[in-house]
Amino acid sequence: MTHALPHSEPCALVTETLAAAVAAAREAGQRVTPVTIAGRPAWVKIALEKRLILRLQKGPAPRLLREETAMLRAMAARGLAVPEIIGAGDDWLITSDTGPTLAALLADRPEAPDLPRAFAAAGRALARMHRAGCAHGRPHLRDVCWDTAQGRACFIDLERAASLSAGMSGFTRDLLIFVFAYYSVRPQPGPQPLLDEFGEAYRQAAPAGIWGAAGLRARRWRWLGPLSRPLRWHERRFKPHRRFKEYAAIPLTLRHFDDG
Ligand SMILES: Nc1ncnc2c1ncn2[C@@H]1O[C@H](COP(=O)(O)OP(=O)(O)O)[C@@H](O)[C@H]1O
Ligand SMILES: [Mg+2]
Repeated sequence: MTHALPHSEPCALVTETLAAAVAAAREAGQRVTPVTIAGRPAWVKIALEKRLILRLQKGPAPRLLREETAMLRAMAARGLAVPEIIGAGDDWLITSDTGPTLAALLADRPEAPDLPRAFAAAGRALARMHRAGCAHGRPHLRDVCWDTAQGRACFIDLERAASLSAGMSGFTRDLLIFVFAYYSVRPQPGPQPLLDEFGEAYRQAAPAGIWGAAGLRARRWRWLGPLSRPLRWHERRFKPHRRFKEYAAIPLTLRHFDDG
């Protein structure tokens, strides 16, 4: 039997116990599977990486998942916005559902009235993470959830690059990746009220100087803009169906911090 989550994620497998949820996820053969365990929406992540290139790049999947579990625990202990661990084993992890991702919201409900609140919440949550000396490492819009029940943004997918003792380069990298991920979904110049919500909330709550340092870093990479022109042309011409327009996002990201 399947059951739809309150957002546009795939249908969840319904189970009663953690063991049954893990077994069902293994059966589904996916790395990440939505489940409902005794009525509670959750996600099972299995250490499964079929692509050799990613195994070579990132290392063995079970080790990565155990590191992610430890990172979730450490960040939760610091009071940061991460999902609750419902259960974890040697090669599996079950986390509580923390709502739709910002990427899903932008794609499915671009006019949703709570989107500005979700982006502001993401800015505050990232600032809080940085104030605690931690960095997410890759806060793509697919890895930031809008937890409507609690009115907060929540970070998931704390893989390899997450850090409990990050420095300025980790903080600025988080900002650049978030802004880049936004533009790869909305590759348009001009005012971006959602990013403004994010940026204002971040600057109000973050340690001073990080936003400005991200701007300096973006300016140092300016040369990438013209260099990526052929790639942008290729993306427009041959990949119009792609959901994330990453080459188009490069110059927009590099310019974004100019006015902030
Ligand atoms: N706790 C959670 N709450 C809400 N959505 C989740 C959660 N965990 C995973 N997801 C969904 O599953 C997707 C993939 O999970 P993620 O941990 O990011 O794995 P991957 O390493 O494959 O990117 C996320 O982008 C999100 O849509
Ligand atoms: Mg992810």
